[in-house]
Amino acid sequence: MLFIHDVGLAHLMGTRDAMRWDPAVYERFRSERERPFRDLVAALPQRPYRRIVDAGCGTGRTTRTLAERFPAATVTGVDASAEMLQDVDPALRLVQADIRVWRPSEPVDLVVANAVLHWLPGPEETLRHLAGWLDDDGALAFQVPANHEEPSHRIVREVASEGGWADRLREAEWGDHVLSLYGYARALRSEGLEVEAWETRYLHMLEGEDAVLEWLLGTTLRPVAALLSVEEMARFVAALRPRLREAYPLEAGKVAFPFLRRFGVASHGRTRS
Ligand SMILES: C[S@@+](CC[C@H](N)C(=O)[O-])C[C@H]1O[C@@H](n2cnc3c(N)ncnc32)[C@H](O)[C@@H]1O
Repeated sequence: MLFIHDVGLAHLMGTRDAMRWDPAVYERFRSERERPFRDLVAALPQRPYRRIVDAGCGTGRTTRTLAERFPAATVTGVDASAEMLQDVDPALRLVQADIRVWRPSEPVDLVVANAVLHWLPGPEETLRHLAGWLDDDGALAFQVPANHEEPSHRIVREVASEGGWADRLREAEWGDHVLSLYGYARALRSEGLEVEAWETRYLHMLEGEDAVLEWLLGTTLRPVAALLSVEEMARFVAALRPRLREAYPLEAGKVAFPFLRRFGVASHGRTRS
């Protein structure tokens, strides 16, 4: 069975670029990945935003949603990955840059960072840098996956520690730079911002026996693929697959995948209108 092609693994294997993203694989669970972004946007303070930055904008889907939601605003998407930016709507303003060093040319009134901060070591420092982009009434909103203690991620780390690849994978970037809610609030309050922080556990109902594996291939397993050869990655996936199937059994065609996410909205003014 050509399983690696079924799950898009062929796109990921053999690259040594750990920051390489594959839009086709990432977008496979688009509606599940969109839901927390919609929840974040719904929690924004109601203000007449004029300058918005979508930090780590990926394929620009979130940038477009922000431009539609706030039509009077200039919305700029910033992302480090050329692959993620390549199919983006040309009508959107986009910059290829590392959000840890980039700065807008003038202060902005809203920064959104959806599903990006957990990839960056030192999230407190990144948050402070993003807060530095804001004008005096500005707001900063973020969402991060916080599933690193769930069976899916535990199983990936188990397999990573077992094979001949264990030494190499010790260097892997797992995208688990996640703070407690209190940690986020403290970092942002130290910048003089008022903070509302919360977490939500979603129960995604995914189609297909290997849906969790497919999900992980779009995000968590990218850095693994970057460090292994094509043959090793095929063996890695073969070791993962039965364990994930056991942890997330198929019931009536669907797999239930619980997913914890943390959110924050910080503002120089009130976090609620
Ligand atoms: C999980 S995707 C999220 C994309 C988008 N925010 C969304 O919600 O659909 C994470 C994105 O963060 C980007 N990224 C990671 N580190 C970055 C950095 N230091 N600077 C800019 N973008 C970064 C990746 O290239 C990727 O497109």
